[in-house]
Amino acid sequence: MKRSIHQMPRPAIAPSLLASDFARLADEIARVEAAGADLLHVDVMDGHFVPNLTIGPVVVEKVRAVTDLLLDVHLMISEPGRYIQAFAEAGADNLTFHAEVVSDAQAMAARIRELGCTAGITINPDGPVEAIRQAAPHVDMVLLMTVYAGFGGQDFIREMLPVIRNVKQWLTAGQRLEVDGGIHADTIGDAADAGADVFVAGTAVFRAPGGDYVRAIADLRQTATKALTA
Ligand code: DX5
Ligand code: ZN
Repeated sequence: MKRSIHQMPRPAIAPSLLASDFARLADEIARVEAAGADLLHVDVMDGHFVPNLTIGPVVVEKVRAVTDLLLDVHLMISEPGRYIQAFAEAGADNLTFHAEVVSDAQAMAARIRELGCTAGITINPDGPVEAIRQAAPHVDMVLLMTVYAGFGGQDFIREMLPVIRNVKQWLTAGQRLEVDGGIHADTIGDAADAGADVFVAGTAVFRAPGGDYVRAIADLRQTATKALTA
């Protein structure tokens, strides 16, 4: 049974596995799950759409076997249509594709939903916001990149705040707005204030001082909650 992004709390904190210790993946997942993660963000890179290479369906399948968390799979790949079935069968719950590489976003979202997953659409900071506007009614979640896709540990791009505000207006109350990149205790509040309610955090969680994942997730949640309820 797939997990639904619509069931996630507001705010929802999504640690990004990219910043975890891949040699100890099961342990890292168990630790963030115990520390209060709401979902798990999985960054898939193909060395083509982005310069980096990361995770494929064989790894997602192994991750699926060791956690009950919702698997939020971010496809930074040039041909998402070739791989969505493999990721869905591997146990992904949400599949997010980049608008930059998909000519018919509505059809891609429909295919993802037919596979039993929820569908997300995303763009890089310089990506086509108009494509998001057109696809918005047909997806479960919009992801706005607040860094350029490809690597963890980059600085939050503040110029995305007005874009978050703008996109938020196109979404219905049930749809989710996720941000990804440079999310820390000192940036999450502004992103939440602008309208985001799902927060990807790699470095902020997996590289937290003293390895204190509990505190890192609690700090993020507290700051986002304050901004969302203000
Ligand atoms: C970047 C990835 C992010 C990345 C975020 O291409 O999409 O999910 O893991 O990392 P931090 O939180 O370190 O910016
Ligand atoms: Zn990501």
